[in-house]
This record gives sequence, C-alpha cells and structure tokens, in this order.
Amino acid sequence: MNSLKYYLSQVEQIFNEEQFIFEPRELYEPIDYTLRLGGKRIRPTLLLAANALFGGDEKQVRGAALGIETFHNFTLLHDDLMDRSPLRRGQPTVYTKWGDNTAILSGDTMFALAWRYFLRQPSPRLQEILQCFNETAILVCEGQQMDMNFENMTLDEVDLDAYMEMIRLKTSVLLSGALKIGALYAGATKEELFDIGEFGEHLGLAFQLQDDLLDGYGDTAVFGKKTGQDIRDNKKSILPLLALMHGSPEQQEELLTLFAAKDNLDEEEKVHRVMAIYDAIGLRTIVEEHIDIEFRTAKQYLDAIHAPEEKKAPLRELMETLMGRKK
Ligand code: IPE
Ligand code: IPE
Ligand code: MG
Ligand code: MG
Ligand code: MG
Repeated sequence: MNSLKYYLSQVEQIFNEEQFIFEPRELYEPIDYTLRLGGKRIRPTLLLAANALFGGDEKQVRGAALGIETFHNFTLLHDDLMDRSPLRRGQPTVYTKWGDNTAILSGDTMFALAWRYFLRQPSPRLQEILQCFNETAILVCEGQQMDMNFENMTLDEVDLDAYMEMIRLKTSVLLSGALKIGALYAGATKEELFDIGEFGEHLGLAFQLQDDLLDGYGDTAVFGKKTGQDIRDNKKSILPLLALMHGSPEQQEELLTLFAAKDNLDEEEKVHRVMAIYDAIGLRTIVEEHIDIEFRTAKQYLDAIHAPEEKKAPLRELMETLMGRKK
C-alpha cells in the first residue's frame, strides 16, 4: 500500500527527470523557474492517487501528471498578470521578473507543453482523457472571466451562488479533472468517475474558500503570496460577500464603498479598513464553517466509492493535510 508521501515523492521524481530549458532561453527560463519552484503539487498527486485507487498502472500516468501540473502553472502565469500579484511561492512572479509579454508567451507555451506531455502516453481511452482535459481548460477560463467580471460589479451585485459557481469553474474543475483523468487511465466506471469527480469538486471548493481566507488572514512568509491582494483588486471573494451578509448597516455601507471598482483610496489604507471590519464581524469563524461544509461533502463522496480503505488512504490524507493548510 502506498502513502501520500509516496505519491508526492513520485511527482517530485517526475519533475526532476524532466528538462524544461531549451532555446530560446528567454522563453523557457521562466517555465523552468516556475515548474522548479514546486508548490504543493496537489493536482498531479491527486491524479496518481486516483489512478492507483482504481487499479491503474503508475507508469502510464506520468505524462498526464506532468501535463496537469504544467497546465496549472500556465494558469498561474496568466492569473498573476491579471491579478497584478507580485509574489508566488515566496518568489517574484514571472511578469514582475521578466515582463508582461514573457508571462503571456511562456504561459501559452506551457499550455501547449501540457498537451505534449499528455500525448506521450497511449491509452485506449486517450480520446476521453484529452476531451476531459480540454473541457476542463475551457471551464477554468470561464471561471477566470467571471472572477474578472465581478471586479467591475458592486459587492451587492454578486450573490453567493454566482460566487460558488465562479470558484467551481476557476479552481474545482481542475482538481476534479485531475482525479477523473487518473481514474480514466485506470479504466474506472461511469459511476466511479462521478463520485471521484464530485469528491474533487467539493475538495476544490473548500480549497478556494481557504485560498480566499488566507488572502486575508495568511502569513505572507508562509503562504508565499502577498496578502490583501484580493482587497486591492476589488475581488468579490467569499470574505467581502459573507461580511456584507453579516455586517451592520454601517459596516455594509463602508464595505460597498471600499469594494467599488473606481475608488481613489490609498491601497494599504483600504486593506487596513477592510480587515478591521472583518475582525469586528468575526468573519474568520464564519468562513471556516463554510469551508468545513465543503470538506465534509467531499468526504461523503470518497466514502461512497467501493474500494479497499487502504487505497483511499492517500486521498484522505491529502484532504486532511489541506484542511489545516497555511500555504
Ligand atoms: C493556486 O493553487 C491557485 C488556486 C487555485 C488557489 P495552489 O495553491 O495549488 O498553488 P501551488 O501550485 O501550490 O503553488
Ligand atoms: C486562482 O484564483 C484560479 C486560477 C489560477 C485559475 P486566485 O487568483 O485566487 O489564485 P491565487 O490566489 O492568485 O493563487
Ligand atoms: Mg491570483
Ligand atoms: Mg485570480
Ligand atoms: Mg487567491
């Protein structure tokens, strides 16, 4: 039986064995920089563990593991440019280090490289696998567009259901897609694909809610990203949405002004004032309750899968690691 640690080490090995620098270096160096910085490697780990859960052959999914993580990192290059985020994994983001054009072009290349890695491995279900990958990629872009649309809307124009759909698209479908692709290589049934996919969606919802929470309450040194960026960007994350629902009329009024797209406030003053309202409301606990609901739902779908408990253990372990995450 393999542990979570085993799958994480396999993912590291897959990346260590791969070369990312070619000519012209200006195109590939940012790719190598990003992929070697690591990160948590959640998506390829999910892919390997789901493959093993349904009795797959690990050698068959190494290309897909590389592909899914390369795709994820591509979204980060573009996302950081869109969000104007200065830090990722504790290091300067690609656009701050090399410029906007590099973030666009190296990012585009990573999307194509992801396809190359997927195509390395023949499988009787390759058509289904690539379809799953491509549909997932389209959904992620739809989610990213919704996220940006929300920036230009007032806080009271974005409701909780629309927000949950936005994070399902920008984040959950990729976690779900990674699991389904691993399962597809292993020959999983339609029912198994449904359950593992739902597990991933709810895990992803919990994960993005946590990301929103950490943007407000994380420690930059541990989280690796500059906190308060969602506030500076007028992001309608779960924090202001729940704060608006739980705040007093005065707090609601102030939040609406602070999260308006066209504000002339000093950025740090704005972060300070927003955080003061969150603290006064006791927002952290309220958000944690929402996160907990999604983790519990995810767990129910994992429980529903008919497989030996020891094969589910790495996925349970990963979920538990994520539950208390600080980065
Ligand atoms: C960041 O993803 C983007 C979100 C969906 C919140 P991760 O938090 O998985 O990033 P890394 O790969 O571990 O850095
Ligand atoms: C991430 O959303 C979604 C994607 C990258 C597709 P965020 O914009 O919240 O992610 P971070 O906080 O920059 O990692
Ligand atoms: Mg971002
Ligand atoms: Mg973003
Ligand atoms: Mg975020």
